[in-house]
Amino acid sequence: MTFIELAKKRCSVRSFTKDPVDPALLAVILEAGRVAPTAANSQSQRIVIIDEKEDLRMLSEFAQIYGAPLALLICADHDATWKRSFDGFDTGAIDTAVVMTHMMLAAADVGLGAVWVDYFKPDKVKALFHLPSAWHPFHVLAIGIPNVPLKSPDRHAPLRLPLDKTVFRVKDFRK
Ligand SMILES: Cc1cc2nc3c(=O)[nH]c(=O)nc-3n(C[C@H](O)[C@H](O)[C@H](O)COP(=O)(O)O)c2cc1C
Repeated sequence: MTFIELAKKRCSVRSFTKDPVDPALLAVILEAGRVAPTAANSQSQRIVIIDEKEDLRMLSEFAQIYGAPLALLICADHDATWKRSFDGFDTGAIDTAVVMTHMMLAAADVGLGAVWVDYFKPDKVKALFHLPSAWHPFHVLAIGIPNVPLKSPDRHAPLRLPLDKTVFRVKDFRK
């Protein structure tokens, strides 16, 4: 499968079987996150594996994880994030998003379903799992075996904007 085939095949999966995720497949997903680029190679991502029933139940009180048997909580360690020298801009949210993207695509590549979840209360989740104070949970990746047919790789034609709505040339703004 070429990269563009994988990118088109990947879709959000929001229904999972109860089966646990094969640890070998989880290892592939984590490795994809490990090699992701981060600002100045800061590698500020801190990933918490949540796969025990009670932990998943507690997490699902604050985050919609669609009954997934595995959730990865992706945090940025603000003691490790790169901060832009002239204005303090902190790349933690971006680093973790890049890591998320690598892992989400890896999940699709190994035949698992996953959905990126940002609709949760970071402070509640941080307290729930007693995370270090410098860690900020930015994203949850809910992963499992899909319990629904996967969306078509051809769905993007109607569901994504055409390129001319999102891509421009400098001359488009020239007065
Ligand atoms: C930054 C980001 C945040 C998202 N947050 C949520 C979320 O909280 N809950 C959810 O069900 N899906 C969430 N999604 C999934 C998007 O809704 C989904 O990727 C988008 O609708 C396109 O559908 P597709 O992934 O099937 O191609 C999120 C995706 C991204 C990239």
